[in-house]
Amino acid sequence: MFLFIPAMTIFTDQPNLHRSQMPQINPKQLFKTAQEILTENTWEGRYTVPSPNLYPYQWNWDSGFVAMGFAHFDAQRAMLELESLFEGQWENGMLPHIIFHSKKREGYFPGPSYWESNKVPGAPKAVDTSGITQPPVHGFILEKIFNLHRNSEEVRGFVKAFFPKVLQLHRYLYEYRDPQSEGLAFIFHPWASGRDNSPLWDDLVKTIPIKPGDIPPYKRYDNLKADPSERPSDRDYDIYVYLMELGKRHQYNGKAIAKESPFLVQDTLFNAMLIRSNEALMNLGAELGINTREIQDWNTQSRKSFEDKLWVEALGTYAPYDLQNEKHIALREIGAYTALYAGVPSNERAEVLKEYIETLADRPEGFRVMPSFDPDHWIFNPRKYWKGPIWPQMNWLVYQGLDRYGFKGTANHVKSDFLDLVDKLGFHEYFDPRKSVADQLEHGYGGDHFSWTAAVVLDFIANS
Ligand code: DGY
Repeated sequence: MFLFIPAMTIFTDQPNLHRSQMPQINPKQLFKTAQEILTENTWEGRYTVPSPNLYPYQWNWDSGFVAMGFAHFDAQRAMLELESLFEGQWENGMLPHIIFHSKKREGYFPGPSYWESNKVPGAPKAVDTSGITQPPVHGFILEKIFNLHRNSEEVRGFVKAFFPKVLQLHRYLYEYRDPQSEGLAFIFHPWASGRDNSPLWDDLVKTIPIKPGDIPPYKRYDNLKADPSERPSDRDYDIYVYLMELGKRHQYNGKAIAKESPFLVQDTLFNAMLIRSNEALMNLGAELGINTREIQDWNTQSRKSFEDKLWVEALGTYAPYDLQNEKHIALREIGAYTALYAGVPSNERAEVLKEYIETLADRPEGFRVMPSFDPDHWIFNPRKYWKGPIWPQMNWLVYQGLDRYGFKGTANHVKSDFLDLVDKLGFHEYFDPRKSVADQLEHGYGGDHFSWTAAVVLDFIANS
């Protein structure tokens, strides 16, 4: 596919930013490097790993974004990425967060032998998987691939054949993860939120008592491969293992887990992705002549529950809901802002969300937008994983939401800040949001040659 990338400067139409302050990037070079990362660094022949050193298997929502990246220059690989991912789908529709196509790799915990998916009826026989899921982005990724290749008979055929797999995933979430039939799916593990050690979970996980013997001995590798000060703590990992053990005991059955798990959360990002993906399936259904009545019913209820239940007026934002303790986790955090992409907020609430993002950009200490956690909170840590840094896929989602509501200036600001960071600091996993600090650094944080960083760059530049 031929793609014309004009030489350009990423400018925003943000009125209070002067053009001289705008980052100058070389989009052609960035696009080429992003392509190389996907085709040379992270491609494993049939699927993509997030980062060869740190995450050596196929990850769920990472591969969703990667398929979008491939769709800009290689539709075959985009389709193969999704196909290989869904080889890990369970009979009940659950799509695991890791698919262990290769057993040979050492140096990742928890690897294939930990989860024991092969002992769970309905888990795939041909491949080992984890037992938890991740944000359901696949509906809107499928729509993206369709929209980029709508004239290709092959792609249309693929999308039509793939549609039921995504539908089955959504059906699983409504059937097994929504005990009160509210239209909001719960997660039972922080990893399923995609935002592992977000301060969102800190208070909740403090209440989980771990007694000696509750968890098996285990060995971490992540903090040997990346700077430990940028990774979750040992206590975080004990909690992750405790909740995985609980899942394993119940063969990862959502209904049984709901009765026992101390961590049972209706997350903002997770449900916003479900709603946006429902919408994408409805759009695809209209294009391809597929009846989507069931999806429309789900989505009407999910949108209403999200708007009614997850909004916290005192914060002026949405917040996850802790089902066991029956309260909001009332902190300001980036997941809430992805509700814009799902088209959930009224125009009035959308304006409130947008204004907050603008105040971040205007702060005297100088932040790139948008940090993953509230910089005014004492726990904010601009270096540590989900406690503050800028994450590529999150900023892509925030950009899409702002754009959807017509906040073009703020949207472009999010995009240009992100591209500027990658241009200066490389294709890393996450980045320091403080301008004065990041500008002195030589690289970003966490893993390098990161596949979804490349994918997001490809999409941003192709659509500029
Ligand atoms: C990790 O290993 O850090 C992952 O986020 C778990 O999926």
